[in-house]
Amino acid sequence: MAIDLTKVDKNIVRLEYDKGVAWVTLNRPEKRNALNPAISLRMLEILDEVEADDRCGVMVLTGEGTAFSAGMDIKEYFRDMKDQPRIVNIKVRRLNWEWQWRRLRYFQKPTIAMVNGWCIGGAFLPMASCDIAIAAEDAQFTLSEVNFGILPAGNVPRAMAEMMPSRAALYYIMTGESFDGRKAAELGLVTEAVPREKLRERVRAIADVLLEKGPEVVKGAKDAFKRVQDLDWDTSEDYLISKQEQLWFIAGDEREQGFKQFLDDKTFKPGLGMYKRSPKKGA
Ligand code: COA
Repeated sequence: MAIDLTKVDKNIVRLEYDKGVAWVTLNRPEKRNALNPAISLRMLEILDEVEADDRCGVMVLTGEGTAFSAGMDIKEYFRDMKDQPRIVNIKVRRLNWEWQWRRLRYFQKPTIAMVNGWCIGGAFLPMASCDIAIAAEDAQFTLSEVNFGILPAGNVPRAMAEMMPSRAALYYIMTGESFDGRKAAELGLVTEAVPREKLRERVRAIADVLLEKGPEVVKGAKDAFKRVQDLDWDTSEDYLISKQEQLWFIAGDEREQGFKQFLDDKTFKPGLGMYKRSPKKGA
């Protein structure tokens, strides 16, 4: 059967705005939010929308029901794709990669993965692409691919190589054993694990801290970290100086306000928190 990559199903991922936060919820609870081409199409649409919408200062990605996401849809991505022309396979993989990694990793606004339950296989990638990940202590993480004869999906091993200690990453990739949110935090795969009943409250509190900051400054800071990881020291230094100069150009007022409140007004100390920002046009 031909696969339709033109129609977007608005319900498959929900988008809600609340006081500066865009809550993006994978909404296939009956399939444990397994990732399929329809989710890719809707996510790409949502990323475009949210990026341009002033109601969003921070984006949270989470899942409806008991799963964050049960990874790639084994039927739609593997079995059904077997009979599709190679070019369709390539396109479907590209859509996937496009939202889960390229767009999400360098998203214009801060992103938080709120890992509310199962996070399996291919779901590691969008989780890892988010800037911050907060998990329920009892959320379950599994690199299950070895259990059914495939390699970890997409670029998951690359993401694991960046985020987890090698021994732990190899162990979980090779055994397919599950670990919980607490262990994920201990290994550095997620930022923090909190009791399930506190999960949304904690994510909201982190989003509120990020919303206080200058948006261009936060975007520059995250890119500064994410982009230099693969650069040598000289190139990295040059990139960071260029970024610093770019920031001066696009958000110079942020630091002028900070300098003034610290050096002249003595109303704020950078080591103790955020200066008082004056609202900007469009903010
Ligand atoms: N791909 C396709 N379908 C999936 C899926 C996936 N990754 N994960 C869950 N589903 C489907 C199940 O087939 C089932 O469909 P059905 O109602 O038509 O039978 C439905 O979602 C509910 O799943 P079920 O297994 O009954 O839920 P559970 O709560 O008992 O178990 C999991 C949850 C996540 C442990 C289990 O569904 C599972 O192991 N899924 C596969 C995860 C995986 O290995 N993903 C890696 C892909 S790279």
